[in-house]
Amino acid sequence: MNSKNSILLDALRRENNQENIPIWLLRQAGRYLPEYMKIRSQYSDFFDMIRKPDICKELTLQPLRRYPLDAAITFTDILTIPDAMGVPVKFIKGKGPIFSDSIIKNPQLELKSQNAIKNLDYVFEATKLIKADINVPLIGFTGSPWTLFVYLFYGESPKNRNEISGYLKNNSSNAHSYLKAMTEVIHEYIDAQIQSGADCIQIFDSWGGMLDQDYEEFSLQYINELAKSIPSNIPIILYTRGKTIDSIIESTPISCFNLDISDNIDHHINKSIAIQGNFDPQKFHSDVNELEELATKIFEKYKKNNNYIFNLGSGITPDIDPDKVGIFLERLSSLSS
Ligand code: CP3
Repeated sequence: MNSKNSILLDALRRENNQENIPIWLLRQAGRYLPEYMKIRSQYSDFFDMIRKPDICKELTLQPLRRYPLDAAITFTDILTIPDAMGVPVKFIKGKGPIFSDSIIKNPQLELKSQNAIKNLDYVFEATKLIKADINVPLIGFTGSPWTLFVYLFYGESPKNRNEISGYLKNNSSNAHSYLKAMTEVIHEYIDAQIQSGADCIQIFDSWGGMLDQDYEEFSLQYINELAKSIPSNIPIILYTRGKTIDSIIESTPISCFNLDISDNIDHHINKSIAIQGNFDPQKFHSDVNELEELATKIFEKYKKNNNYIFNLGSGITPDIDPDKVGIFLERLSSLSS
């Protein structure tokens, strides 16, 4: 990466031998930033906004202008895939994502693979534009097949797992057909993001925690298939929510993990994996002195680890004060050599 800042990629390869800590944030761009809200207010529909590559670029760069971040993450959403496969989604205030159709309502729901990648071209255009303008690595991302299936099944964010558990028991071959169809599109989606300039890929399995013993069958097997298809020089980071990574590490070729807030990074830091996350973004509500002390503590604790990346265990929420985030990150970054 020439003279560019590559400490994130070094850490993902467990080769960050300097006394510094790479930093990026889950959902680092979004509704807690006034500059995001300004642009967002010009669009009634989220997807109308993200289909514009120059806007995606601007939204990606916004947090980099504010904070000392060591990575950019392409501004888009995991729900681009069902949208591109013919099931559009709208974000309704206070309700989250609402799909035009769902497997619960319509067990015959069809996913269209044929033009899916063409329909996602705006993401690849945005990726190229962003890449030309940054001096830190660019993270591309996707939802996992399972997590996207959960949204398709419920047509919205799930409130419990009863219905989907019943469906998996009685219709497992249909579930696998949907998962396979999405895995194929996601494979090409990841590939095209890499071709367009993504330096690493994060897979969000945000609803992985809905599965227990059947996690391997319905989620991990498809994530592993994707992981094996990605060139070995591109690090892949797996984020699962509601699940400790103990049960996963042994069963996947993936070696970079983003922990959620319930796991414990200290249980995993000495393993031969790269590790990020776990920090609860609610801590950003602490007062300024506490935040500075916390940043110093984190730096002292992890500065010698070659595989540690500072990140959050869940996305930043709109109630968080961006200035507090700045105070914390400035302290963490200023301690680095
Ligand atoms: O800088 C960034 O990281 C922003 C890019 C990004 C977005 N979504 C933009 C977005 C990323 C990485 C995502 C991932 C995402 N989207 C996940 C995985 C991470 C996680 O939190 O588990 C999930 C589950 C989604 C699905 C999703 N997208 C939901 C549930 C919602 C609505 C509720 C919410 O939290 O906002 C979205 C919409 C969305 N995606 C917004 C943003 C900034 C807000 C939309 C708006 O402005 O109206």
